[in-house]
Amino acid sequence: MPQRIAIAPGVFLWREKFSPLEQKKLHDEVMARLEQAPLYRPVMPNTGKEFSVEESNFGTLGWVSDKSGYRYQPAHPVTGMPWPAIPQPLLDLWAEINGGRAPECCLVNVYRAGAKMGLHQDRDEKDTSAAVIGVSLGDEALFRIGGTSRAGRTVSVSLASGDVIAFGGTARLAYHGIDRIRPGTSRLLPGGGRLSLTLRRVSKATGGA
Ligand code: SIN
Ligand code: FE2
Repeated sequence: MPQRIAIAPGVFLWREKFSPLEQKKLHDEVMARLEQAPLYRPVMPNTGKEFSVEESNFGTLGWVSDKSGYRYQPAHPVTGMPWPAIPQPLLDLWAEINGGRAPECCLVNVYRAGAKMGLHQDRDEKDTSAAVIGVSLGDEALFRIGGTSRAGRTVSVSLASGDVIAFGGTARLAYHGIDRIRPGTSRLLPGGGRLSLTLRRVSKATGGA
């Protein structure tokens, strides 16, 4: 079993948590589900500028961005269909790391050559008690994470295929982003690129699940 590596307070990394065979299976399962919930290119609130990544979601609530803002919604913004269920290996990973209530959202990001993700906080969730968990597949990415103010010091870590990152507790609202990917470092995705799967709890418990 891979060892948990402490990156910063509340930030943990597991190298190759998913073996090459598990990565391939997970990749194929994700691709199959994306046929029901196709990747699309979101735009920024207000400016309408296109993201450099393509996105979709799995789970009961998907994170979307459009000209009116960021929000969670139960249906795909293009097809109007409910999001597919979160693949079981990701639910198992969540249970192992976070326990408690299952994640409601698995955001899918696809980074082709040149795509990146600016520094931001994950703060559209009403429940921030559980850690955010990210699974990387495909090309390596340079991930950066800091504190809860944009101006604070940051640390960078390279995320390779099969790696898992988690940030919770005092780091749950930490600024983070992807500075760049390193094209050609993995052959997992046909045509190259990186796929990230970000698991989150969204809503507060209402007594039931
Ligand atoms: C995100 O923060 O939304 C994505 C991070 C990643 O792609 O690993
Ligand atoms: Fe994020």
